[in-house]
Amino acid sequence: MNISSSLATFADMYKLVKPLFFTMDPETAHHQVTGGLRKVRSVWGMKALLNSIYTVDDQRLEREVFGLKFKNPVGLAAGFDKNAEYIEEMANLGFGFIEIGTVTPKPQPGNDKPRMFRLVNDMALINRMGFNNQGADVAAGRLKKLKNRENLIIGGNIGKNKVTPNEQAVDDYIYCFNVLFDYVDYFVVNVSSPNTPGLRDLQEKEPLKLILNKLQQLNNTKYTQKPILLKIAPDLTDSQLDDIIEIIVETQIAGVIATNTTISREGLQSNQSLVKEMGGVSGKPLAARSTQVIQYLHDHSEGAFPIIGVGGIHSATDAIEKLNAGASLIQLYTGFIYEGPSLVGNICKGLLTRHS
Ligand SMILES: Cc1cc2nc3c(=O)[nH]c(=O)nc-3n(C[C@H](O)[C@H](O)[C@H](O)COP(=O)(O)O)c2cc1C
Repeated sequence: MNISSSLATFADMYKLVKPLFFTMDPETAHHQVTGGLRKVRSVWGMKALLNSIYTVDDQRLEREVFGLKFKNPVGLAAGFDKNAEYIEEMANLGFGFIEIGTVTPKPQPGNDKPRMFRLVNDMALINRMGFNNQGADVAAGRLKKLKNRENLIIGGNIGKNKVTPNEQAVDDYIYCFNVLFDYVDYFVVNVSSPNTPGLRDLQEKEPLKLILNKLQQLNNTKYTQKPILLKIAPDLTDSQLDDIIEIIVETQIAGVIATNTTISREGLQSNQSLVKEMGGVSGKPLAARSTQVIQYLHDHSEGAFPIIGVGGIHSATDAIEKLNAGASLIQLYTGFIYEGPSLVGNICKGLLTRHS
């Protein structure tokens, strides 16, 4: 066996340990995986080894989008590293960019557990985490201490506290924007999580314009401007998507992330008691709808702004579908849980094959 096939075998180790993780409650498994990765990485030589196993370095993967240079177009979606705790660990697994959050101004516990469910037959998750996070100041403190950022792009996904009424939501976004400004490369305004009551009402024209205009004004007072993106739900109608296009063009924000999780339960095969759990569905069942939203935004805006495509990417083929629909970059979360860390490298290799 040569070195590269040994490394490939090692990369597939997740397939061996996955059944064990899948016996655990999903949130416990998440902490075991991230904690385990941190321990492995602390052993001398392991950082370099993880890099050589999982990272695909190739100039042809580089992308320049909204003025930032990405070493590859595969990002970790928001929600996995809510508190900016595992950036170096995840970067070692080959991601080209990492989005932290959603962070809110004050820390908050989120919804009662259990609040994350595996729908194995659908290769999906349902979650109603409810923006559990340690608050923007704690996240900023961790980002400040990060030593090896190298050429890793970090996004800051920001939201509002559950106790903040929608009329004051703009203040929460401004707070997070200011606190994180020096430590992230781009911002994401999250108004699309289904798990904070009333949050998605902020996707309506007037409240959304208010938030984005205020953030843009603030952005323009800074020494340098950071790209601001909007993250939208897959459950918007075509006319709501038309409004989103109009708002992005009018406010001149940098782009959009499509999409967050869906409230739809269409086509799910899993046990009814699981399907009925409240929350947003991610993973395979979301793939087609999120691609449709990307295609709609791309076609109807005539490519006026960059799109980050996310939702149900479990393979290189899924990633290429999103890129063909008009996405400039992609992100994933649920695919990582089902396919393991080798997914990132496999997508990068698939993209290289497409180009060769
Ligand atoms: C457990 C969990 C927590 C999430 N938390 C957030 C979050 O805090 N903010 C956010 O914008 N999206 C959040 N998401 C949505 C993901 O970022 C992504 O948009 C969605 O899961 C679709 O991608 P996927 O099918 O690759 O998982 C979360 C998703 C999951 C599964």
